[in-house]
Amino acid sequence: MARIDLDLAHSYVPDPRTDEDYALLPLKFTFEDGGAYALLGPSGCGKTTLLNCISGLLRPSHGTIAFDGRDVTAATPQARNIAQVFQFPVIYDTMTVGENLAFPLRNRGVPEAQVRERVGRVAEMLDLSSTLDRRASGLAADAKQKISLGRGLVRHDVSAILFDEPLTVIDPQLKWQLRRKLKEIHHEFRLTLIYVTHDQTEALTFADQVVVMSRGKAVQVGPADALFERPAHTFVGHFIGSPGMNFLTGQWRDDAVELAGRHYTPTLTPSVEAALRAAGSFRIGVRPEYLHLAPERDAQAVPVRVERAQDIGTYWLLTGTVQEAGAQAGTLRARLGTEAASLRAGDTAWLSVFNRHTCYYVNEELVP
Ligand SMILES: Nc1ncnc2c1ncn2[C@@H]1O[C@H](COP(=O)(O)OP(=O)(O)OP(=O)(O)O)[C@@H](O)[C@H]1O
Ligand SMILES: [Mg+2]
Repeated sequence: MARIDLDLAHSYVPDPRTDEDYALLPLKFTFEDGGAYALLGPSGCGKTTLLNCISGLLRPSHGTIAFDGRDVTAATPQARNIAQVFQFPVIYDTMTVGENLAFPLRNRGVPEAQVRERVGRVAEMLDLSSTLDRRASGLAADAKQKISLGRGLVRHDVSAILFDEPLTVIDPQLKWQLRRKLKEIHHEFRLTLIYVTHDQTEALTFADQVVVMSRGKAVQVGPADALFERPAHTFVGHFIGSPGMNFLTGQWRDDAVELAGRHYTPTLTPSVEAALRAAGSFRIGVRPEYLHLAPERDAQAVPVRVERAQDIGTYWLLTGTVQEAGAQAGTLRARLGTEAASLRAGDTAWLSVFNRHTCYYVNEELVP
């Protein structure tokens, strides 16, 4: 296993001029040896490009990649000793399941006894033991993808294992099992794993560190709770969570926060207060989980006009609009308990927007 240092940028066009010409903007990042990472972001943000730069399938147009301090920028995937699992199965249909699993080992001249031991172990982990002698060609897509995963996991001498949305073809129940399996395997073998997905649940359950990407940029790297509690950028607030973070525009006026024509005096650290004062205009971020119904006319609460309150099963989702001089100043979504059941469209609900979880953003960046 290896520590991977990136200091690179990539453009698919020969003579990049603007930021838009880059699939990956300049990025400096270290994947620590033995860490479990996810690259999370919407379609087209550069996840596969980054993964392929790490594996060596793609040479970055700018910069370098080092494994354990050794420059591998020009090295092939084979020389980098990387295992990669793709979105769709890559297996040999003419071989049996067992032969497929053994292939990466036999290819490297691993002694047969060791091959059998490793194949047996990986097959067991992935529930493939009973199919080892079967031809791979007859199997369903998800069984084939399990073989692909097994082929990625069978070698213990790789620098890192890279996964590019490997569970796309797997049905939801099995997906959940395999995700747990991968996590167990990571704990057992302490492999450096990098896992690409656009599914936040997948990223947050699998990885210790999630790299959130947007338009060729790593906007935040952190564990699940940091992404949830303190999104570094409004994009991360929107993208993580279900539904995502709420954002309202506030102004600093008369030593207070002005929001939709009302004045509030939330508890702020001196540095946040100074930043809001200097900015004049800013965004207030609050997660649906941290909004609560407050008494009518509560000094720290914001009145919203209820659009609907829906019973989602484990919670009620309230959607309401913040009104300013009769116009709509923003939408709030709140995850509430059964106290929301009596709310009707057109009612006014008072929501506690300001609390210790509330985040503030200037130019879309979190005020620390
Ligand atoms: N071979 C290529 N030639 C030119 N442009 C490319 C190539 N591959 C990707 N791109 C562009 O680079 C950007 C990043 O693409 P990339 O495939 O890395 O995104 P992604 O995050 O993996 O998306 P997805 O979730 O859809 O797989 C996109 O704008 C894409 O159109
Ligand atoms: Mg991709």
